[in-house]
Amino acid sequence: MQFGYFDNPKREYVITDPRTPMPWANYLGSPAYGAIVTQNAGGYSFVKSGAAGRILRYTFNQFDEPGRYIYLRDEDTGDFWSASWRPVEKPLDEYKTITRHGTSYTQIESEYRGIESKALYYVPMDATYEVWRLEVKNTGEKKRKIGVFGYCELTTESFYTQDLVNLQYTQFITVTEFHGDHIIQKINQFCNVNEDGENGRERFFGLAGAPVASYTGRRERFLGTSRFNAPKGVADGKLDDSLNFNGNPCGALHTVIELAPGESKSVAFILAQKGTREARKLIDRYADVEKTVDAEWKELIAYWHGKLNGLNVNTPDEDLNTMVNTWNAFQCFTTFVWSRAASLVYCGERNGYGYRDTVQDIQGIIHLDPAMAKERIRFMLSAQVHHGAGLPLVKFTHNAGHEDTPEQDSYVKSTGHPHYRADDAMWLFPTVYKYVAETGDKDFLNEVIPFADYDEGTVIEHLRRAIDFTMHHLGHHGMPAGLHADWNDCLQLGAQGESSFVAFQFYYAMNLLNELLPKTAEYKEYSQWLTEKAAEQLQKINEFFWEDDRFLRGYTQDGAVIGSKKDPEAAMWLNPQAWGVISRGATPEQAEKSMESVHRLLNTENGIELMAPCYKKHYFETAFMKLFNPTTKENGGIFCQPQGWAILAEALLGHGGRAFEYFKESCPSAYNDRAEIREVEPYVHSQFIEGHETPQPGRAHVHWLTGTASTVMVGMVEGILGLRPTPEGLRISPAIPAEWDGFTMDKTFRGKRLHIVVDNSAHHEGGVQKLLVNGKAAGSAVLTDDMIRDGDEITVVM
Ligand code: GLC
Repeated sequence: MQFGYFDNPKREYVITDPRTPMPWANYLGSPAYGAIVTQNAGGYSFVKSGAAGRILRYTFNQFDEPGRYIYLRDEDTGDFWSASWRPVEKPLDEYKTITRHGTSYTQIESEYRGIESKALYYVPMDATYEVWRLEVKNTGEKKRKIGVFGYCELTTESFYTQDLVNLQYTQFITVTEFHGDHIIQKINQFCNVNEDGENGRERFFGLAGAPVASYTGRRERFLGTSRFNAPKGVADGKLDDSLNFNGNPCGALHTVIELAPGESKSVAFILAQKGTREARKLIDRYADVEKTVDAEWKELIAYWHGKLNGLNVNTPDEDLNTMVNTWNAFQCFTTFVWSRAASLVYCGERNGYGYRDTVQDIQGIIHLDPAMAKERIRFMLSAQVHHGAGLPLVKFTHNAGHEDTPEQDSYVKSTGHPHYRADDAMWLFPTVYKYVAETGDKDFLNEVIPFADYDEGTVIEHLRRAIDFTMHHLGHHGMPAGLHADWNDCLQLGAQGESSFVAFQFYYAMNLLNELLPKTAEYKEYSQWLTEKAAEQLQKINEFFWEDDRFLRGYTQDGAVIGSKKDPEAAMWLNPQAWGVISRGATPEQAEKSMESVHRLLNTENGIELMAPCYKKHYFETAFMKLFNPTTKENGGIFCQPQGWAILAEALLGHGGRAFEYFKESCPSAYNDRAEIREVEPYVHSQFIEGHETPQPGRAHVHWLTGTASTVMVGMVEGILGLRPTPEGLRISPAIPAEWDGFTMDKTFRGKRLHIVVDNSAHHEGGVQKLLVNGKAAGSAVLTDDMIRDGDEITVVM
């Protein structure tokens, strides 16, 4: 079934049927003021923290309500509906509606009995409030009088769990007041007030562009004994001018609009965690609703489209174009900015950045906004402990140089993380490498950055210490210990157990660092040491991790093998095979064999399972994936992050067809016309997809905020499209389906705009025969800065 389509020129997804299997959401603003909105106007808003700064109530996992509701009422007949299909749910043969989810805005456009409405929701650039602009148009032949009601349900206090469960307290700490064009909510009104009588906990809901005809600040009076589909206040055509006291606060404002035939008018509702003084200023700012909103909307679009324009691809595959140009890219920025802060699944309880997730998220935007990436790389380096490990959780309040660490009870208490994970700091290597390669900014390597607890060092020093940390945590065979987790949160291998995943990461890390090291006397000895140690690791990998047609997954703390052919369960794992290739550790023969095993033993039509057969009986003590249902999440589900690694690995091997096959299998947009399978949004990746041993294989879960965004992006950009920068310049080596005649790309590289034409008239899957700059042979495989100018045309003949 299809519920919508991609409007690529506008970079929008348009939902044409609001009855999607799950609420399909969009992201507005940033965690400074964040809002999530669905096609039925469901969702919530918060300031700084989804859990501790919640403004709007939302009931997770229920009916996608409440939301940012706007009701319309025909004053002559009393008939009423909503600007979004829900909550009123008028019959869809008469009520026409589409939702345009765009880059940081959502517009719901509906038409019912001669009245067109457009509800635009957004948070202006860098602002800490939200705007709902409603445009109403009379498309009929007679004059119409339309009542408009804006409604939002406010939490009683900022901690959303308190709001939901501690009713004996929270119901009695808040009141609402009416101030002419806005409702103010006060919380603990006598505490910590300043000279204006405010304590910084006020929220307001205001109306601009029309006078308020009636209002209520009390949910029970708005609803009466009805639900959101037929609130008493709307049915009555007038709110009762009541306020909240010892109950549930809301903002509900009513105005009446008269429209001549063909006429349209706009009003704006504004919501913020701010007091009366700010409310006054903001409502005044929107006195000319159209003008202000149009300018702000344009600004948002220019900002986001400007970023996404950094890479524009035009391949024969529409899914690839849609995802790489817009949706996967926008999701990468969303995960970068929001981390795992808030979604319809993440309820906002995380009080910081996960180390590995964040360092990986950076990789998804390096090709589009390296400056933004650099800032976050700095930040993450400053969250490395002096001995080289990454803090498992980096607090939002991170104060480099002064943080406590997992060695201290205080850290464990405040974060819940008692141990280091084996992979965290290893992610720094490809991330720093990619940044330096994209920009050529080698100076960054000498920048001095503090460590989390104490001490400081250059970026190179930070990377050295990350190597040291792993070196100091080796297991039985002298390969990296699995510690508390090794990317796979469910795999606890401990201080002696060993992880092939981290072994490959480590091998790769040493080689990447070696490549980045300045070729000076100062680093000569260290560079040699890295070369030797990397060779030693690889030798151990071959000796202890290779078995016939696969790399093993690891050794347990007791020395038992995980991921051997002989195992009745979990005999084959995706990650070590893909990472064998990505790290360049696998020999060509191992690479071919192991990736072939992946295809044979793990692949399904909806993507590659993480391992198989899943654990049911034959698990070891700390294999926590046993907690999950079969082929679900880490227990052999189609975990989506590793799909990106498989795409990259196949592309690096020059298997364009296979890489593309993997892309398509788990590509959200490829399910647009069978969206009932995935259920979640066809425009964003999810954390995992159900595997073959569930009743609904292909169903996807945990939308939006997932590392999948960045790994698949890297798999596409570096892998299939073949944009593989090195510190020296740009290498282009696509791996595409042999049927393609070629494709084009426009890419900004180190400040220069390049038009890249890939010619595959020979119908190869990979490999480059010729590289031309403006029609002349380049003479080298890497385009260095002196070889290219802004506006050049690069031809890659495959
Ligand atoms: C989730 C976590 C991520 C972890 C992965 C596999 O996506 O956010 O940190 O690597 O699961 O366990």
